[in-house]
Amino acid sequence: MNILLTGASGFIGQNLADALTAAGHHVVPISRRDGVDFSTMQTADRWLPRLRDVDAVINAVGIIGETGSQRFRVLHAAAPTALFDACLGAGVARVIQISALGADDSAFSSYHQSKKAADDHLRQLELDWFVLRPSLIFGRGGTSAATLLRLARLPVLPVIGDGRQMLQPVHVGDVVATVMACLTAQDTRRTLDIVGNETVAYVEWLQRLRLAQGRNRALVLRTPVRLAMLGAWLGQALNPMLRPENIRMLVKGYHGDGTAWNEFLGRPAIAFSPALLDADAQQALALIGGQS
Ligand SMILES: NC(=O)c1ccc[n+]([C@@H]2O[C@H](COP(=O)([O-])OP(=O)(O)OC[C@H]3O[C@@H](n4cnc5c(N)ncnc54)[C@H](OP(=O)(O)O)[C@@H]3O)[C@@H](O)[C@H]2O)c1
Repeated sequence: MNILLTGASGFIGQNLADALTAAGHHVVPISRRDGVDFSTMQTADRWLPRLRDVDAVINAVGIIGETGSQRFRVLHAAAPTALFDACLGAGVARVIQISALGADDSAFSSYHQSKKAADDHLRQLELDWFVLRPSLIFGRGGTSAATLLRLARLPVLPVIGDGRQMLQPVHVGDVVATVMACLTAQDTRRTLDIVGNETVAYVEWLQRLRLAQGRNRALVLRTPVRLAMLGAWLGQALNPMLRPENIRMLVKGYHGDGTAWNEFLGRPAIAFSPALLDADAQQALALIGGQS
């Protein structure tokens, strides 16, 4: 298949590009690194020339914090919405949207709300769509995964509140395997939450990342939620990941019901092992012995 892959230079995108190419597909990459900025792609007519001879579209563009030119409204909603409309116009039936766990009716952050706006738009189009909502993703090359690994190496582990926020981290190999299955599945028009098979408190996840890096368990530094929010507010000019909204999203946790997704994939999520932290999708899927 000819597959237009947006976000091809990113964590998920690169893993997808490798798997798609290995499976014999031809990937048309879209990202700023590939010369295409979503901020210039906010109408369907901008996308149409790029959809010639394309059989499927995968959208994996996203940001976790805004900067002057990188806006949620544009990158998560306006440009993808225009892309999906263009798919309808160009007869590209199969569209796979990488959304995020929490982009549902409970969404309160502009991150999730902007994701949901594109998801909702896609869901009402006459296309063979999939909306995939992964939890926190780990695996080699992930920015948030690397940040957590760094935090876990600190002498004292900083947590928000009591650190008992519930997570269901999932390996990037599971996200890739799901997208590959979506390319050929007959049962389309599905929204699937992609979550790990284990629920772990944030503080325990940090301890686990620490042990995996050859260190002993560490003491924990509890930061009151309000203080963490203030710190994020003060620090957001330095690092767009530091946003009070991101603290609120962490406080809510990243957990969900993966039953429908497990049935779709025909197996449970890949079980955690320390070796997976530095494994890319292909390596993780090889480790579980072709169960993808
Ligand atoms: N990683 C996770 O834990 C996780 C969990 C759930 C959902 N997700 C979602 O999955 C998607 C991808 O996540 P990721 O971890 O792969 O993120 P990432 O590594 O930061 O990759 C983001 C991708 O978006 C592209 N991009 C950013 N701004 C762009 C722009 N203005 N125009 C065109 N492309 C642009 C980047 O390419 P350039 O910088 O080259 O433009 C890159 O290819 C996001 O929507 C994210 O919300 C991620």
